[in-house]
Amino acid sequence: MATALITGASRGLGLALARALAERGWTLILDARGADALETARAELARQTQVVAIAGDVADAAHRAALAEAAQAQGGLDAVVNNASILGPSPQPNLLDYPLDVLENVYRANVIAPLGVLQAVRGSLKPGARIINVSSDAGVEAYPGWGGYGSSKAALEHLSAILAEENPDLKVYWVDPGDMRTQMQQAAFPGEDISDRPLPEESVPGFIELLTGERPQGRYQARALETILDAAEPGVNWLNLVLMVNDYAKAMNFMQEGLGLQIAEEWHEVGNGAMLEVGRATIEILDTQHVAEVDRVEVGKLKGDRVRLALGVGDLDFASERVQQAGAAAENVKVDTPWGHRNQRLAMPPDLPITALTLFQVMDEAEAVTP
Ligand SMILES: NC(=O)c1ccc[n+]([C@@H]2O[C@H](COP(=O)([O-])OP(=O)(O)OC[C@H]3O[C@@H](n4cnc5c(N)ncnc54)[C@H](OP(=O)(O)O)[C@@H]3O)[C@@H](O)[C@H]2O)c1
Repeated sequence: MATALITGASRGLGLALARALAERGWTLILDARGADALETARAELARQTQVVAIAGDVADAAHRAALAEAAQAQGGLDAVVNNASILGPSPQPNLLDYPLDVLENVYRANVIAPLGVLQAVRGSLKPGARIINVSSDAGVEAYPGWGGYGSSKAALEHLSAILAEENPDLKVYWVDPGDMRTQMQQAAFPGEDISDRPLPEESVPGFIELLTGERPQGRYQARALETILDAAEPGVNWLNLVLMVNDYAKAMNFMQEGLGLQIAEEWHEVGNGAMLEVGRATIEILDTQHVAEVDRVEVGKLKGDRVRLALGVGDLDFASERVQQAGAAAENVKVDTPWGHRNQRLAMPPDLPITALTLFQVMDEAEAVTP
């Protein structure tokens, strides 16, 4: 069974991650300064797994030695998550007003202590152990008023990057969890309503991926990792329609200038290719009778195209004028459909392998179901 040391696990992200690892049967070594909240967390987690909780301050070398002793007693560590951190004063002073003794304390907790924890437990790290140093976007972006905390996280990030280079036998990650609805976030925005911030649980899947997967060492944003994981779910998750054209420049001009599509990726090494963002993608399967009915509504007569591109737009008048300027030809005037859309059928410019184009604007969300 795997064992993790998580610092600062009595609330917030540390506790959310401890819960997720407890569910997976990991043995946990946890700390926090406040003994009561830590004991409450320990008692809850101990119903699921083995937990050692040691109250103390990560900035205190004697406390770190106690954590290291516990790590050894558990037979070594598969993961260390340096999560404990302090914001500093709330509200945060600008740098020129920042009391230096207070800044020293912030650095002690946020930079020196995480390294101190790793130095203390180094003899207990199993080969390939995961090290996660919890950082922040404030360690990368220069937000005014965030000079103390932000620069401490910047130092932690660089320290992590060098640790990664110096220890290829470990997996060192430095991770921005994103804004989270926690006590620290409330302290950073005193008196503000922070109910729009996601709960720390939403950042946890990214941490689990780093702790259990085989990601290369480096900096990660926890919630972006989760998005990648979602996309990696088995089953179809992406519609990409591939069109072969003879005149690449002309077709791209139509797509970009006519339809206003943005390029997601392009390739020019061998010939030319580009992938364009189209927003939501769906596939519609219609029998001949249903196609005839849509043709009747949109064009007033049977067209019977086997393949038709139907693109939702925000403003049909604007989009229609733009595609016609770029080479499309209207098949009919714009029509209000019985299914709550305003549609126009057009013919694509020659050379594109799909000739029929419908532009549609959703007028009535309640009615907006595919015909
Ligand atoms: N919340 C956000 O929006 C946000 C955004 C970006 C990055 N982060 C980072 O995410 C991590 C977790 O933050 P959070 O929002 O969950 O914070 P939090 O709600 O304030 O929780 C911090 C935890 O760490 C403990 N702790 C703080 N200082 C400690 C120390 N010196 N020694 C031992 N334990 C200590 C706290 O308990 P005691 O106070 O009892 O010690 C508590 O358990 C931090 O590294 C933070 O910088 C947070």
